[in-house]
Amino acid sequence: MQLQDILYTQGFGPRRLCTGLVQNGLVTVAGDAVTDPAEDFEPEGLRFTVEGKPWEYHAKAYLVLHKPAGYECSQKPSAWPSIYTLLPAPLRQRPVKGGQQGVQAIGRLDQDTTGMLLMSDDGAFIHRMSSPKHHVPKVYEVGTADPVDAKQVARLLEGVVLDDDPRPVRAAACEPTGVNALRLTLTEGKYHQVKRMLAAVGNRVVSLHRSRIGNFALPGDLPVGQWRWLTPEQLAAVANRGQ
Ligand code: URA
Repeated sequence: MQLQDILYTQGFGPRRLCTGLVQNGLVTVAGDAVTDPAEDFEPEGLRFTVEGKPWEYHAKAYLVLHKPAGYECSQKPSAWPSIYTLLPAPLRQRPVKGGQQGVQAIGRLDQDTTGMLLMSDDGAFIHRMSSPKHHVPKVYEVGTADPVDAKQVARLLEGVVLDDDPRPVRAAACEPTGVNALRLTLTEGKYHQVKRMLAAVGNRVVSLHRSRIGNFALPGDLPVGQWRWLTPEQLAAVANRGQ
């Protein structure tokens, strides 16, 4: 693939800008500036720099973000900064055929929720992961206002009725992890589901952190507010329903 096309697919701006970046000696491959925009490279796995910043070619983007509290998952946030401001411009600008530009969050976390957020520009993957039919387990570490008792745990496992649907929603797994803490596994993703389930059993969520999706745990060495590409193994683990 021509270097100018590589830059374009990776979100470095309109084609003319990508051509200009190369012509102006601002792109290096293996340490050397390449000034011919039409020079061919094998894109898969290609590492290069643009204006001194390292980048890695990915045909499709699959990444994990460690969401901080105080960020909204919307592109057009109402009160807090958007999580998209935590990503470098190329990830927000990647051209997507027939879709919105850039990577999208797969599902949303509340402004005050922290933890694992997956993002991608692969429409089919986003659709599959967000589909209610695809019961990927999501694990939440919940801090509660009142002590968690056995009755509350039993009710969360049996199912509670929320105000927008007469069918009960139940936790796939639930275990106390402290006096005021529990680990809850859900296979659906209703609006404010954890907070509403805890309210339905007479408790209240004071902190919420998503620690796992499918078989993939949020990497312990990924700092809050940082993102990382998913490896093919991590990508397979994410979509895996098994615990
Ligand atoms: N459930 C909630 O209540 N909030 C989240 O952010 C995620 C799940």
